[in-house]
Amino acid sequence: MSIELPIGVFDSGVGGLTVLHECLISLPAEDFLYLGDSGHFPYGTKTAEELRERSSAVAAELLGRGVKMLVIACNSATAAAGDEIRALGAEAGVPVVTVVGPEAEIAASISGNGRVGVLATPATVASGAYRSALDSLGRPLTVTEVSAPDLAPIIQEGPTFDEQVLDTVRGYCQPLRDAGVDTLILGCTHYPLVAPMLQRMLGRDVSLVTAGHAIAAAIQRELAGRNELARDRVEGDYRFLVTGDVDSFVDVGTRFLQLPLAGRAERVEV
Ligand code: DGL
Repeated sequence: MSIELPIGVFDSGVGGLTVLHECLISLPAEDFLYLGDSGHFPYGTKTAEELRERSSAVAAELLGRGVKMLVIACNSATAAAGDEIRALGAEAGVPVVTVVGPEAEIAASISGNGRVGVLATPATVASGAYRSALDSLGRPLTVTEVSAPDLAPIIQEGPTFDEQVLDTVRGYCQPLRDAGVDTLILGCTHYPLVAPMLQRMLGRDVSLVTAGHAIAAAIQRELAGRNELARDRVEGDYRFLVTGDVDSFVDVGTRFLQLPLAGRAERVEV
């Protein structure tokens, strides 16, 4: 695979930009091509079958354009379609990096009391992906999963956070507080945007685990192992394909990425 090719990244919308943000900081020389499937948002309330179909189409679009690696920056897509997309990647000779596993490993290693919470979309909770990832790590853990149907849509629509949002988040925190978790996996790439709210409601002793750093490190390892890390330049390029409204993606996305998106995004049909 040519080291000149970009790294493909996708999510149902702007959430995966929290992962891209870490990648742009940790791997500045790389080019990135991000596909936001906002025309089909939300993924979190779709069935496993719908998710497999949708995510495979999006992955095929990125593979067809030429990428040296594919990153599924969406927990719902990883949980339902991770295996299918790894198989698509293998056929094309492209490694696939996903969320879920890395956050589970971090949570299992840092939890002091062995009580780990997972806040995620209904699709991710229903898949049992985090529970099995945590179970496979060989440490007895008490896992409390909370399904949050409203949270990604609230964040994706990008309203000013108001009292109603606080109440919604408070409701999701209650079972986690009752369970005494000391570690919470933010099992949806949209959720880092409400991390300050969650931290305030759960207390400072609860560690919040997000995917960004771990994914950036996994990409670095994988590319280094294949001798495909970009070289001889300081800053690469980053561009966006959007299946929904480009202007609102750019507006909301700028908050997630904390870098400019304007002039870098184009509409695509998938
Ligand atoms: N950001 C996505 C995830 O990590 C999903 C949000 C959604 O589309 O419901 O699950």
